[in-house]
Amino acid sequence: MITRDLRQAAPRDIYRILTSLVIPRPIAWVSTLNPDDSVNLAPFSAFMGIFNPPMVAINFGRRKGGALKDTQRNLRDRGEAVVHLPDAPLLAAMHACGEDLPEGESELARLGLTTTPGHLVAPPILAQAPVALECRFNREVLLSPESTLMLLDVLMAHARDGIWNETDDCADASRWEPMARLASVAGPNYAGLGERLTLGPPKLP
Ligand SMILES: Cc1cc2nc3c(=O)[nH]c(=O)nc-3n(C[C@H](O)[C@H](O)[C@H](O)COP(=O)(O)O)c2cc1C
Repeated sequence: MITRDLRQAAPRDIYRILTSLVIPRPIAWVSTLNPDDSVNLAPFSAFMGIFNPPMVAINFGRRKGGALKDTQRNLRDRGEAVVHLPDAPLLAAMHACGEDLPEGESELARLGLTTTPGHLVAPPILAQAPVALECRFNREVLLSPESTLMLLDVLMAHARDGIWNETDDCADASRWEPMARLASVAGPNYAGLGERLTLGPPKLP
């Protein structure tokens, strides 16, 4: 067994080690509005769903030099976002949005992506995304000088027609290919779902 004591480890080492171990991670591909009303789009995999209450959580690091990422700033200033779950055809576009663009430059135009209006929030929905969650900023928790956890209420859920199971009234994981993030430093690399497995209710032998 390999063991690493993280208590005294440097932040860079902790990040490399933990992001290689806590996998696969779902990816929030988040649209927000910049101060000039242009659309900002960026991916985050320190991301989890909280299902009751209907919320999601995203952890934001800082840019080099300590500035807030545009998404975090926009969430604070304008209070709304759309969280998309990218699938395989969107992998390259989503990954490209991880580049730190100069302030105010919109990823959408550079990637040739198109949007439709949100129903309840001002940031638009990516037309190409299989799943989109309209969200409102709830609160943030400062975890360290470089790290802030933001909690968002999920107000409305959208899914592409083809992935919906009408009988169960929810998405069917066999009908789409959500992308997961693996190691962030040794890579970066990603994975699809692979084989889907269905079991009965939990029951000890
Ligand atoms: C797949 C992927 C996952 C990422 N996850 C995070 C994350 O959880 N937290 C974070 O602060 N940055 C994360 N990043 C980096 C941000 O996407 C990157 O800093 C981006 O430029 C931020 O854009 P913004 O300034 O427009 O918000 C991730 C990048 C990629 C490609």
